[in-house]
Amino acid sequence: MKILIDTEAATLTRTGGGEDSSVGLFTKAAFETLSREWLRLGWNLLYYHNFSWFGRPILQLPEDMMRLQEAVYALKPGVIVETGVFRGGSLLFHATLCEALGAGKVIGIDREIAPADREALRAHSLGPRISLVEGDSTDPRTVASVKSLIGSAEPVLVILDSAHTREHVARELECYSPFVTVGSYIIAADGVMRDLADLPRGMPEWKSDNPFAAATEFAARHPEFLQQDPPWLFHDGDLTENVTYWPGAWLKRVGP
Ligand SMILES: C[S@@+](CC[C@H](N)C(=O)[O-])C[C@H]1O[C@@H](n2cnc3c(N)ncnc32)[C@H](O)[C@@H]1O
Repeated sequence: MKILIDTEAATLTRTGGGEDSSVGLFTKAAFETLSREWLRLGWNLLYYHNFSWFGRPILQLPEDMMRLQEAVYALKPGVIVETGVFRGGSLLFHATLCEALGAGKVIGIDREIAPADREALRAHSLGPRISLVEGDSTDPRTVASVKSLIGSAEPVLVILDSAHTREHVARELECYSPFVTVGSYIIAADGVMRDLADLPRGMPEWKSDNPFAAATEFAARHPEFLQQDPPWLFHDGDLTENVTYWPGAWLKRVGP
């Protein structure tokens, strides 16, 4: 596909794939086409590896954190569980929201947590809100530890951001979805992989082997969950689609 941006004529033209199409440059359609390519280009250049939260690296697209913040504010979780800790920035992001809301704890799970990262989180001013569990996220012992740390806290929000193969995310969805309370979400992060398969840093198998596929299949097997982004709470314009690394990620529990 070729995309021609004509800033003088104010048009965006897509050619290839059999049919040419042209839209105004200042339209929703042009924004969506350019956003998709911006996401792909930025991912390939590690755009999302250039942020930190309260002093720790965080591997997230800022747009996704804004949407997560909206959902957390609306839900006011008693506990946020996240698989995939990396250096702890996302756990601190969740803990910051809990601190601002005056309630809530955070549980982070990773197969390997470096002693320096563990110590940095322990010593952080937000550390008391965070518990860490080391182990494969789908190991029954790990899941049992998380269950006991959750205790009776609710609502329970879960974010899956560890290994991103379809199979692993499918297993995580089965392990952690029972903890999710009605009205809350389990989020299968990084479904954007399906759109990155052809990039220099991508892998051809990602076209079908990705968290989006796992989330879509999970929703089909589990009618108690709906694959549905949280609604935009403030909306003033034509746009309707998130600019996101998390397409199809949000699975809302709608029944027992
Ligand atoms: C994408 S990073 C997490 C990023 C982090 N949530 C953030 O926003 O900064 C993925 C993490 O998942 C961990 N991981 C990979 N496979 C795992 C598994 N099977 N069980 C638990 N953790 C795993 C890796 O060690 C790595 O730290």
